[in-house]
Amino acid sequence: MKASAIVYTSATGFTARYAALLGEKTGLRVYPLDRAVKELDRGADVLYLGWLCAGSIKGLSPAARRFEVKAVCAVGMAPPDPAYVAKLQRPEKLWQTPLFYLRGGYRPEGLRGIYRPMMAVMAKAVAKVPAGTPEEKAMQAAFRQGGDWVSEQALHPVLNWLEA
Ligand SMILES: Cc1cc2nc3c(=O)[nH]c(=O)nc-3n(C[C@H](O)[C@H](O)[C@H](O)COP(=O)(O)O)c2cc1C
Repeated sequence: MKASAIVYTSATGFTARYAALLGEKTGLRVYPLDRAVKELDRGADVLYLGWLCAGSIKGLSPAARRFEVKAVCAVGMAPPDPAYVAKLQRPEKLWQTPLFYLRGGYRPEGLRGIYRPMMAVMAKAVAKVPAGTPEEKAMQAAFRQGGDWVSEQALHPVLNWLEA
């Protein structure tokens, strides 16, 4: 196994679900970042999962300062797209670290604090653009009603990497 624990940051639960699924499948212990900081040894080898917020992976910088991040999973609501994933912001020391994208979901009622108005602005902007393709229509519907794309299948590349 290439990591000794799974550490994550989640606002509305989708990243937490992926982390829990990975824990079930690998037997690795799973920690939210705030608990990992208290309970895991500094420098421990971890797989880190964080939700995407305006193109950056939440919690990744503090996690990378504290632990040896062996691979990263970014969890967002955008459909998977390698060109998009390649552009995600990461600390320089993680540029060569494997990065996986997992499509999470959108649960507006679960958002707290600044994130709620931030997403309301985004949802308005998305609703204004004329949706042509079925994918664009599906994204507009997701912004209106929420969505859930968590799937075990999406974890196959991550599991292959962990167990290789
Ligand atoms: C303020 C805000 C910004 C977001 N920015 C992005 C983004 O840049 N790319 C993306 O794919 N999803 C973005 N999302 C969607 C979340 O990443 C998505 O809902 C994710 O599944 C949340 O995971 P969580 O439930 O673990 O918090 C954003 C959500 C919020 C609230």
